[in-house]
Amino acid sequence: MRLASVSKVYGDPANAVTALHDVSVQLDRGSFTAVMGPSGSGKSTFLHCAAGLDRPTSGAVTLGDTDLSGLGEKALTKIRRERVGFIFQSYNLLPSLTVEQNITLPLRLAGRPADHAWLSRVVADVGLSDRLAYRPSQLSGGQQQRVAIARALITRPDAIFADEPTGALDSRTGQQVLRLLREIVHAGGQTVLMVTHDPVVASFAQRVLFLADGRLAGALDEPSPETIAERMTHLGEW
Ligand SMILES: Nc1ncnc2c1ncn2[C@@H]1O[C@H](COP(=O)(O)OP(=O)(O)OP(=O)(O)O)[C@@H](O)[C@H]1O
Ligand SMILES: [Mg+2]
Repeated sequence: MRLASVSKVYGDPANAVTALHDVSVQLDRGSFTAVMGPSGSGKSTFLHCAAGLDRPTSGAVTLGDTDLSGLGEKALTKIRRERVGFIFQSYNLLPSLTVEQNITLPLRLAGRPADHAWLSRVVADVGLSDRLAYRPSQLSGGQQQRVAIARALITRPDAIFADEPTGALDSRTGQQVLRLLREIVHAGGQTVLMVTHDPVVASFAQRVLFLADGRLAGALDEPSPETIAERMTHLGEW
């Protein structure tokens, strides 16, 4: 996945907000990257542009070997459905559907047949084999987020995008979910981009990118919660 000189300006010219300013970054296949920065620094905008949920004002986003900037709305929707998985803070499960129906929803939306062997595998990986007939309201927060992870994986996407995926979980449950996500994508080779405020959460990634005022403000490889927190305290100085 590659972003080349990506800028995003919101609003009309009179009161324009530059949410991203000339951001270039390359994320290798199979890598797990966290994005950190102060509130309003452009993290969600970065994630949305990288995932094809939002279009950059200028610059190019390449997913695999597909240049998203050249695509129309229909083709972009197809990419989002088939090649990308999403995990949100609020799980975004449909309350009236069972766990199994929630997990397989992306396949139905894409008009693809259910692959039962793959479904069993994904469900076993997230530890929900005995909960397939439950409704989301009958699950704990950690279990609901594991449903969301399974849903993100069911189409065998190239990339997974997560915005504060553990924001609604207590820290122990959050870390279990992150460990699980890290193991699954390590085995499956997905490229993961995760936005978070939390240095402990970010330390589950191989690399942390820092954003400040919409600009890339450094990176940290093999980060620890301490080195991340230290860097965050200096971000305001950029
Ligand atoms: N749809 C929009 N219309 C106008 N301005 C927007 C829009 N989305 C974001 N912005 C502005 O762009 C800037 C970056 O926002 P963004 O949501 O990417 O920040 P963030 O780093 O995710 O913040 P937080 O940590 O609070 O979630 C902010 O100044 C925000 O007000
Ligand atoms: Mg945000």
